[in-house]
Amino acid sequence: MASQVRIAPSILSADFARLGEEVQALEAAGADWIHVDVMDGRFVPNLTIGPPVVKALRGVTHLPLDVHLMIVEPERYIDAFADAGADIITVHVEACTHIHRAIQHIHARGKRAGVSLNPSTSEEAVRYLLPSVDLVLVMSVNPGFGGHSFIADVVPKLDVLRKWIAACGREVDLEVDGGMVPSTASTVCAAGANVLVAGNAIFGGGNYARAIAELRAAAS
Ligand code: DX5
Ligand code: ZN
Repeated sequence: MASQVRIAPSILSADFARLGEEVQALEAAGADWIHVDVMDGRFVPNLTIGPPVVKALRGVTHLPLDVHLMIVEPERYIDAFADAGADIITVHVEACTHIHRAIQHIHARGKRAGVSLNPSTSEEAVRYLLPSVDLVLVMSVNPGFGGHSFIADVVPKLDVLRKWIAACGREVDLEVDGGMVPSTASTVCAAGANVLVAGNAIFGGGNYARAIAELRAAAS
């Protein structure tokens, strides 16, 4: 298990009418990163937010903005999200033909580069990217919506990825997104995850600090 687990609340479940206050409340509650779910209505059946919202959030928090692009041809928007103030830009392997080039592009903009896998996508899809990337994001729900149930079938994927990351000798974050509650957080961290995205578990109960602390405790 990786030593320091980070909690990245997904603002998909926040009150969008008060988004700045919500992000500041997450920061005060002990969040490590702010996870921003960008959806285009094509790669996933939902539409959310774009670079202007990331730019606005950049002005209200010091936390890293972890931007998860669930969009087709994500390479077309790397500059826009970099300009807006994203710290980590993650693209899906299923959405991007020349993903190695996209990683180079993200790095050329001085940002951390992530690659993401849908639940049905094999870890082999990122094997030859591990020497280049900073983060692998394993989806543990089908992307598009918050509040869905954890798909336990992805856990073996985490085991393999954590071993490959250790073998390549680089610091690569292994992030899990979808259906995180204390019990699933414990399971995925035992399999090697060190960053947990959580939407419903944090926003559903109202006490952000307690929810973040419970996830952190379950993870350690
Ligand atoms: C799903 C998003 C997730 C989502 C997680 O497509 O990528 O970040 O908001 O929400 P919960 O924690 O509610 O499953
Ligand atoms: Zn996400």
